Amino acid sequence: MRTRVGIIGAGPAGLLLALLLRRSGIDAVVLERRSRSHCESRVRAGVLEQGTADTLAAAGAGERMLAEGHVHQGIELRFGGAGHRIAFEDLVPGRAITVYGQQEVVKDLIAANLAAGVEIRFEADDVAVHGIDGAPHLTFGGERLDCDFIAGCDGFHGVSRASVPPERLRVFAKTYPFAWLGVLADVAPSAAELIYAASERGFSLHSMRSDRVSRFYLQVPPETRPEDWTHEAIWAELKARHETVPGFTLRTGPVRAVDVAAMRSFVVEPMRFGRLFLAGDAAHIVPPTGAKGLNLAVADVRVLARALEDHYRSGDDAGLDAYSAACLRRVWRVQHFSAWMTSLLHAFGPQENGEAGFDRRLQRARLEGVVRSRAQATVLAENYVGLPYEDT
Ligand code: APR
Ligand code: PHB
Repeated sequence: MRTRVGIIGAGPAGLLLALLLRRSGIDAVVLERRSRSHCESRVRAGVLEQGTADTLAAAGAGERMLAEGHVHQGIELRFGGAGHRIAFEDLVPGRAITVYGQQEVVKDLIAANLAAGVEIRFEADDVAVHGIDGAPHLTFGGERLDCDFIAGCDGFHGVSRASVPPERLRVFAKTYPFAWLGVLADVAPSAAELIYAASERGFSLHSMRSDRVSRFYLQVPPETRPEDWTHEAIWAELKARHETVPGFTLRTGPVRAVDVAAMRSFVVEPMRFGRLFLAGDAAHIVPPTGAKGLNLAVADVRVLARALEDHYRSGDDAGLDAYSAACLRRVWRVQHFSAWMTSLLHAFGPQENGEAGFDRRLQRARLEGVVRSRAQATVLAENYVGLPYEDT
């Protein structure tokens, strides 16, 4: 087999790249290790930046998102017995977020690719990367795919980054002393907008998927397993962390799924190695507090798709040469925002005297600053709805 761009991974990054290339008349093949139904049912985050929603719509994969997604004009920060709204319509007019499950994005992207004639090979075994400095090709399940370029869109645990000799890359990483217990429940949301709640018991997030499905997260110790928490304990803890403002009652209902997500920050530099380009989680991980994982993947892929278009249209490789540096500028700003949101909202150790207690008091002062200073609230809002793309 031969194609122009061999894409590894049918997550948001690989699927959007394939679709953008197809729209520009550039052939690509996607190799995915898992089954289609597995890719379509993984529960992940659900907040789309304005630019992500616009990009999906412009690529022709936004019809259902526009019909079923919910546009939110703000989020709430809840701490110290009060809720504080960060009002996007006031602070960053014209930009908002769309709440739409990531697995719905993946379903829509798969359907749009297949309708456009893109070949996606699900259940491709033992994908391996070869010839990144010369004649790039991929092997899988006894087959061979020759290509001009390889896009490594295979997530944090994929093969593409692992196939680069270690001396050619630099890794920057940080872990956090907690994880997130994720809960998907068949219950109507208890609020119209997301609630980021910081309490002495730890951080908690109330998000949603639809009028009947809510998504919650609890800060938990890093070694936590989903089965450690009974559903009763989950609801009790969610109530304790959210029912901290007068008049707020958390609705409860059947829990559909419980998962645990590690919290880490990770970046690999550069993002290009010869004819191999990394995009999305293959190149970087952010802690989920800023809801940026999918959005950052979309930003990478926009840059890569445009650079490949220039290459094939006019032989201009300036975009390909600038790919890594252009992506990393945004990656590091988003890393900063995600780490900042994480440290702002999570409980690090007990409320004590001395140095630890001092840090908790500073954390509270930072929260007060964000909700009382219009300038600081604007910084949060600008980042949350998504920084402008460099290419527009
Ligand atoms: N061979 C083929 N496919 C692979 C391999 C492999 N060796 N390893 C991983 N994959 C596939 C995974 O099964 C998955 O479908 O690559 C895909 C990677 O998708 P994501 O992990 O979703 O990564 P990405 O597309 O970069 O997503 C960016 O969306 O899914 C979220 O957490 C993710 O927030 C991040 C964002
Ligand atoms: C989610 O809805 O899953 C979600 C929302 C906001 C986050 C993380 C996850 O910061």
